[in-house]
Amino acid sequence: MSRPRKTTILDLQTKHQKGEPITMITAYDFPSARLADEAGLDIILVGDSLGMVVLGYESTVPVTMDEMLHHCRAVARGAKRAFLVGDMPFGSYEVSPEEAVRNAVRFLKEGHMDAVKLEGGQEMADQVAAIVRAGIPVMGHVGLTPQSISALGGYRVQGRTAAQARKLLDDALALQEAGCFSIVLEAIPDRVAREITRALDIPTIGIGAGPHTSGQVLVFHDMLGLFEGFVPRFCKQYARVGEIIRQALEAYREEVEQRRYPAPEHTYTISDEEFAAFTSAISTSTRPSDASEAQDDGAQMGPLYGPGQ
Ligand code: KIV
Repeated sequence: MSRPRKTTILDLQTKHQKGEPITMITAYDFPSARLADEAGLDIILVGDSLGMVVLGYESTVPVTMDEMLHHCRAVARGAKRAFLVGDMPFGSYEVSPEEAVRNAVRFLKEGHMDAVKLEGGQEMADQVAAIVRAGIPVMGHVGLTPQSISALGGYRVQGRTAAQARKLLDDALALQEAGCFSIVLEAIPDRVAREITRALDIPTIGIGAGPHTSGQVLVFHDMLGLFEGFVPRFCKQYARVGEIIRQALEAYREEVEQRRYPAPEHTYTISDEEFAAFTSAISTSTRPSDASEAQDDGAQMGPLYGPGQ
């Protein structure tokens, strides 16, 4: 089977120029990346939302570079086609442009990402420009920026006053000027997102920003109903996979408790002849060395995964 063609930043620009929506989803591990890739999503974001939906933190603030890179590598092994964006965690880029570049480089070298994303507007322009100068595409992120949850006072819609909306537009323009190839707009009114999108040459990717952005992104666990905590108003649940998993786990537990699993079709066999030789050997010998011989025989077993035998 031929390898799928890798999506490049030029493909994303072409889509945007043609007015075609850009599709983006988060993923955090090999199976979710493979599914997103096979479903044809343009961009996979290894979001720092993994801190909440995968690692169980209360916010994205504690997420570390090492945690991000670990998940980025798993996603890169699963996704062969989508454009891959790694989310720079809180504390990995704010202090200086030099540190931002150093950590962005790690996302490409060690995490096998194609680009990075960072949160913030005008105040992050120097960081964005430095990373772009280093040859790394940067996606911006304004509006509700979860890493600043403490400063924002909670997960609230942003840009609901004229002054706030103006600040969002200025932030987006500054990020474009600094070299961002795209900007995430999170949790802002649809008309504000529309005006920002109109004012920019680069694509906007909305999450809770209405239908007028150049593309959309959702968090994998939220849209699949895997994260059964709070589901934001903007998130459409396309499935309730958490419920299906819970039912399957309960069925498994019940079948084990009732000795209905494993059934014959899940069980490996041994020939009558070999089994007779085995039982006769263990009935005539209790020498400790026999145990290690039995282990050696184990190495000759057929494959565990594959057609039953
Ligand atoms: O971390 C994340 O998943 C994100 C998306 C919500 C854009 O930043």
